[in-house]
Amino acid sequence: RDIILIGCPVDSGKRRRGCLMGPDSYRVAGLREALEGLGHRVTDRGNLTPDPIEAAGDPRLWALAETVGWTAALIRAAEEAAGQGMPIFLGGDHALSMGTVAGVAAHAQRLGKPLFLLWLDAHSDFHTLASTETGNLHGVSVAYLAGREGFDAFPPVPAPIPAKNICMIGLRSVDPAEREALAGTEIHVADMRFIDENSIKAPLAEFLARVDAAGGLLHVSFDVDFLDPSIAPAVGTTSPGGTTFREAHLVMEMLFDSGLVSSLDLVELNPFLDERGRTAGLMVDLTASLLGRRIFDRPTRSLA
Ligand code: ARG
Ligand code: MN
Ligand code: MN
Ligand code: MN
Repeated sequence: RDIILIGCPVDSGKRRRGCLMGPDSYRVAGLREALEGLGHRVTDRGNLTPDPIEAAGDPRLWALAETVGWTAALIRAAEEAAGQGMPIFLGGDHALSMGTVAGVAAHAQRLGKPLFLLWLDAHSDFHTLASTETGNLHGVSVAYLAGREGFDAFPPVPAPIPAKNICMIGLRSVDPAEREALAGTEIHVADMRFIDENSIKAPLAEFLARVDAAGGLLHVSFDVDFLDPSIAPAVGTTSPGGTTFREAHLVMEMLFDSGLVSSLDLVELNPFLDERGRTAGLMVDLTASLLGRRIFDRPTRSLA
């Protein structure tokens, strides 16, 4: 495949700094080389910058103007890149997905195909600007993309994603206002208890079948805190009880097998919090699984 790496050093979505180093951390951890080793053509477009700040600030919301500037810049870049190959957006915190997913959705709309969104995250990121308790805008991305009210400060979403086209897997930290809002939507949700009781394969297989049946494009937004913090410590919003190494690789391999993934965000890596690069290295290995790395072709054969 033609893979386009786009550095998105967005660090305005929360108070704790460090995600701006994410794109370079993936480069140092060998993302490009890993994907080229699988036979893909990889172009690295370097890092983007936000549009000049025009929005007014709001004392309740952290760095609103900067995040609006990033969203506008990323919508353009993502729409363009989605027409040229498979973009991988190297974050940066999860506020960047407001721009990347909105841009990819505009591209899908021009193709006349429905866009589906897989949100791999401990958090639902479903606050509005009115309901956020922290004022951290990495916690509002899905609400914006789904077309919820109250985002007047932001660029209009070119093509809001229908709730039934959104699936969240890995949830274990959802605020009361988010939970209430989610209950009134058709968003598909698999929290950690559901995964414990049914396996992670079940909700993913069901979602992928729907994407396939609709002839849709699929954007995957991968928040590092989807993973258990014991294997992925380099994230500001750690939440215990996350997915295991094996569950995460299974998700990636199923995504590869589906052949449906058309774009990917890697978000919330904070290299300042990493331990000798292990989180960045794991994220590179998981991305390689999503793009075809495997032990054997299935079904597993005897070596005898
Ligand atoms: N719900 C919390 C908040 O609104 C946490 C959001 C965490 N989001 C993330 N992308 N890590 O602040
Ligand atoms: Mn998130
Ligand atoms: Mn296009
Ligand atoms: Mn999260």
